Amino acid sequence: MAKHTFRFILNGEPVQVDIESHLTLLQVLRDRLELTGTKEGCGMGECGACTVLLDGKTVNSCIFPALEVEGKSVTTIEGLADAKGGLHPIQKAFIELGAVQCGFCTPGMVLSAKALLDETPKPTEEEIRNGIAGNLCRCTGYLQIVQAIKAASNQI
Ligand code: FES
Ligand code: FES
Repeated sequence: MAKHTFRFILNGEPVQVDIESHLTLLQVLRDRLELTGTKEGCGMGECGACTVLLDGKTVNSCIFPALEVEGKSVTTIEGLADAKGGLHPIQKAFIELGAVQCGFCTPGMVLSAKALLDETPKPTEEEIRNGIAGNLCRCTGYLQIVQAIKAASNQI
């Protein structure tokens, strides 16, 4: 099958990948670039486990054609650490407030929180709940997640 070469910025670094045109962004991230922090849940654009940031906005990478990120900037959960590898304040707040249980939703949830706080630094509870509306969590009941995002908003 014919391959296409495309370039984009991944977690701040330029990358070039040769792929078949039908691959999704999630397949490229996990299978070609071995960034397995991005999870595959439903594979249908409904659960948010595969959320990454594309030019700062959330996308469901499981249904996003990889070739469409040509020339754009993608941030995965691996890109949230600081220069020394320390956790982002949102990640610290999730841990401290018990917002991580099985952890499967966590990378996508944290990236949705990042997009929210970048746009709305001091969100209300309603804004937080709207910001994570596309991310499903089977474990926490969401309260700890909302509390963690609120706490993080006070530290960023
Ligand atoms: S795995 Fe992409 S939305 Fe569920
Ligand atoms: S912590 Fe298990 S799905 Fe959210």
